[in-house]
Amino acid sequence: MNSPMRPPLAAIVPESAPFTAEQRVWLDGFFAGLLDGDATALSQQEAQALLPGAQIGAAAEEDDGAPWHDQTMPLTERMKLAEGRPLPRRMMAAMGQQDCGQCGYDCKDYADALFSKKEARLNLCVPGGKETARMLKTLHAEIGTASAPAAEIVEPAPAAPAGEAGRSRDNPVEATFISRTLLNRKGSAKETWHIEFDLTECGLDYQVGDAFGLYPHNDPALADAVLGALGAPADFPIGGRTLREVLIDGVSLAPAPDMLFQLFSYITGGERRKKAQALSAGEDPDGDAATLDVLAAIEKFSGVRPDPEAFIEALDPLQPRLYSISSSPKVHKGLVSLTVDTVRYDIGKRQRLGVASTFLAGRVEPGAKLRVYVQKAHAFGLPADPSVPIIMVGPGTGVAPFRAFLHERMATQAPGRNWLFFGHQKRDFDFFYEDEFSGMKATGVLTRLSLAWSRDGDEKFYVQDRMLQVGRELWSWIADGAHVYVCGDAQRMAKDVERALIDIVAAHGARSTNEAVAFVTELKKAGRYQTDVY
Ligand SMILES: Cc1cc2nc3c(=O)[nH]c(=O)nc-3n(C[C@H](O)[C@H](O)[C@H](O)COP(=O)(O)OP(=O)(O)OC[C@H]3O[C@@H](n4cnc5c(N)ncnc54)[C@H](O)[C@@H]3O)c2cc1C
Ligand SMILES: NC(=O)c1ccc[n+]([C@@H]2O[C@H](COP(=O)([O-])OP(=O)(O)OC[C@H]3O[C@@H](n4cnc5c(N)ncnc54)[C@H](OP(=O)(O)O)[C@@H]3O)[C@@H](O)[C@H]2O)c1
Repeated sequence: MNSPMRPPLAAIVPESAPFTAEQRVWLDGFFAGLLDGDATALSQQEAQALLPGAQIGAAAEEDDGAPWHDQTMPLTERMKLAEGRPLPRRMMAAMGQQDCGQCGYDCKDYADALFSKKEARLNLCVPGGKETARMLKTLHAEIGTASAPAAEIVEPAPAAPAGEAGRSRDNPVEATFISRTLLNRKGSAKETWHIEFDLTECGLDYQVGDAFGLYPHNDPALADAVLGALGAPADFPIGGRTLREVLIDGVSLAPAPDMLFQLFSYITGGERRKKAQALSAGEDPDGDAATLDVLAAIEKFSGVRPDPEAFIEALDPLQPRLYSISSSPKVHKGLVSLTVDTVRYDIGKRQRLGVASTFLAGRVEPGAKLRVYVQKAHAFGLPADPSVPIIMVGPGTGVAPFRAFLHERMATQAPGRNWLFFGHQKRDFDFFYEDEFSGMKATGVLTRLSLAWSRDGDEKFYVQDRMLQVGRELWSWIADGAHVYVCGDAQRMAKDVERALIDIVAAHGARSTNEAVAFVTELKKAGRYQTDVY
């Protein structure tokens, strides 16, 4: 039953709103559902706050469900959900589902580009890794062409036009690395760096919400270890460069690709050949497949001596890495900053290094020029209306774009309220940009700062736990039209934060869980729930 105080539904979606008759009917139905609760349910004002323009109707029409579009769902499950769908949709289901842009597309566009053969490279999906590349190879064969699987190509020419300089991975420009500053205090278990690049020479510009792509170099010590294990000369010529140079900046030395094992299977015999064949088919004969980077693979087949050129051709190209931009060009003209967590972990006796993060954390010298580009945000940015309130949830390096948002809103004197949820392991060691945020709090730019330290207490306490504690106020910001942003870990945090938001909507917006899920889905469609996760 509608509350007696409720206005007629037609007033919720005004005649002047930019919708077709069909969209109006759909929206009226949607809001009728939302208004059909008790007195604490959505008010007319709240419902209208969900209407940012024509986006809801358009999004609803475009959405065919893509039920596999969930980065936490295993590939086999995703493929099952896509069974019987047209090939491009199945190709989409094979992607990592993060819409992270590392391949230069979102998941759907990458699938479409492969299907239409505008894109030939099957190995660009970083979150999906080898599993996705293998599935794409199988699906690609269904297109019924004789084209060679691009996963086997080291440097294929991009079929898509590279576009404006510095705007895509296929057309990078050079920027100068300026500096790195450690953001954690001594004693932290983490190592996170504030990184700065000078863009004045290359003239690149960007907007807050965009990501910065860069081409890293492998650790030269790892390249040397590979050379040693192969018994190959460092100066062996490869396309006008030396083998060592190509190992440092041309190819990935991380997970050993199927093609490398295929190559080994050609030059070994007996049991070793069988093992190499099994590994190249994605099997795991010794239960160690996940640990085999290129060096470990060579060591496993010790004594293999492939031709250096064939060896390089069997490896994947070294991919660029993306980082959320943590600066605003309105505050720091000609400069871009990043917030980078250093990836290091041990497997057996050897420490493995994240290529780009350790490159930025130590190997690159101030003044060095790197190949970079700006990756335009995929539906991740400040609301066009500066008076709209924003809620930002960014634990760890997830805080990066929100520092940029806050700088931008400060520089433009945006009147909208700003609420940041930040969290990390320990307050004393891992409070990134503490002075800045405290200053912003003092001047009122940061209306609210809610913190969650996961390792300060006996039990884990995360940003979503803090959100639940202040759920009533959070709901009232949403009811006032706030946009919600989430940035950081895709595998667990983003999902958990979304669940918490659903619980908050259910508890404080007086909805059933299903209604709360529908509400959050509509927030997403309306561009009012945006994520930048990796
Ligand atoms: C849009 C976008 C924005 C991003 N923004 C940021 C940002 O602001 N800050 C940031 O730090 N990162 C960010 N990233 C992630 C970043 O792009 C890199 O993925 C990250 O820095 C790791 O890259 P790397 O080259 O150092 O590591 P890689 O060489 O790529 O190694 C990472 C891989 O190592 C493996 N690995 C890592 N840890 C372990 C472990 N403990 N055990 C076993 N295997 C492990 C995993 O397979 C992992 O994928 C972002 C990514 C995207 C797509
Ligand atoms: N492969 C993995 O297992 C793994 C794990 C973490 C991060 N990462 C990746 O590492 C990169 C950098 O991470 P980062 O330095 O930004 O920070 P982070 O390692 O993601 O941690 C930031 C904070 O988030 C907490 N956290 C952990 N799980 C969470 C959850 N489910 N919900 C909410 N918060 C949670 C962490 O707590 P605790 O650490 O105390 O639990 C920590 O306090 C990202 O790319 C991230 O995806 C990978």
